[in-house]
Amino acid sequence: MSKIVIASDHGGYRLKNEIIKHLKTLQLEVNDLGCYNTESCDYPVYAKLVAEEVIKGDVKGILVCGTGIGMSIAANRFDGIRASHCTDTFSARMTRMHNDSNILCLGERITGAGLAVDIVDIWLNTEFEGGRHKKRLDLIKDIK
Ligand code: RB5
Repeated sequence: MSKIVIASDHGGYRLKNEIIKHLKTLQLEVNDLGCYNTESCDYPVYAKLVAEEVIKGDVKGILVCGTGIGMSIAANRFDGIRASHCTDTFSARMTRMHNDSNILCLGERITGAGLAVDIVDIWLNTEFEGGRHKKRLDLIKDIK
């Protein structure tokens, strides 16, 4: 999977740019849906833009805000989205293997750029294990 759709609010703008720079060095296709400066804006607007693209298929999403938490709460409102807020590489690996996470959420005020880039790399390069974990995702889908 080489296509990434990414967005942030003002609180995640700088870290988002660091991540985009890194993804471009890896020759990955990156679609930046905003925001485009540090003026105050509303993270749910950007969570929605990315979630809608991920639901269409064939792309993974990355959302960055101050903490990563607001973005994950907003993105997980959408059916078919499994957004994971990660602050460490173990969680990034496990949430791909066990949760088939399709959006990674990061917090600029929590995670430094070096660690964030490692988290992104591991998250992008880890496959879902399927099997018993697929059954559990189906159980989540049934929760209304
Ligand atoms: C914006 O100040 C901040 O609330 C936002 O970036 C995010 O951390 C929300 O969860």
